[in-house]
Amino acid sequence: MGRPTIIAGNWKMYKTLEEAVIFVETLTASLVDSQADVILAAPSVHLAFLAKAVEGTKIQIAAQNMHEAEEGAFTGEISGGMLKDIGISTVILGHSERRQIFLENDALVNKKLKAALAVDLKPILCIGESFEERESGRMEEVLRSQLEGSLEGLTSDNLRQMVLAYEPVWAIGTGKTATAAMAQEAHVFCRSVIGKILGQDFAQKIPILYGGSVKPENVKSLMDESDIDGVLVGGASLDVISFNQIVHFDVLSEV
Ligand code: PGA
Repeated sequence: MGRPTIIAGNWKMYKTLEEAVIFVETLTASLVDSQADVILAAPSVHLAFLAKAVEGTKIQIAAQNMHEAEEGAFTGEISGGMLKDIGISTVILGHSERRQIFLENDALVNKKLKAALAVDLKPILCIGESFEERESGRMEEVLRSQLEGSLEGLTSDNLRQMVLAYEPVWAIGTGKTATAAMAQEAHVFCRSVIGKILGQDFAQKIPILYGGSVKPENVKSLMDESDIDGVLVGGASLDVISFNQIVHFDVLSEV
């Protein structure tokens, strides 16, 4: 199928610059033999420094969010162009914490996606259902509407660089992971919806990551599923030892 393997960490609002630099140095030393693309989404104040620190390594630094406008009077916000300017290549968009706490909806995520693509940033688009939505049998409806809303007006050509992350909200930061079979089923469903919106060829090529309480203990079984191309890791990405084990899931003996 030829899809890349992507292991991404999302540090959220954690780590001082010093802690971030030590993490990156430690991780770099153990990545020589890794086949995966490794991405770390860091707090925005550390991005410029880390982008330089990882030059020539296998690590890419990502932003966790951006504003949809090119520039303007938006106190506290950061544009895609600014991220690009400091050497950032990737941005997470529509993370469930942005949707739930900061009330981002699909229409806004769609604008952000267009703004990111306009400056050639690789978007990691996050979608996922809540516990109530899954329990009431609405998982597919929710994933379909998030995909349709977020991707509105975009073509497979625009979205060449996009990565999708399926992150069931009930599994984020809760210690409850979707079983590998549940994640695989959701990934197959997302791929089929993407196929309808953007064509089968594109749907087969897009990497889909799973996120939600990924740990060294469960990464191998998730990665064994044919439609899971990588993982987006929150809590377990804060500790370099556990993140490194996740990156090396293919050589990890059962932990
Ligand atoms: P978690 O977070 O691994 O701590 O569940 C995942 C995420 O928020 O992307």
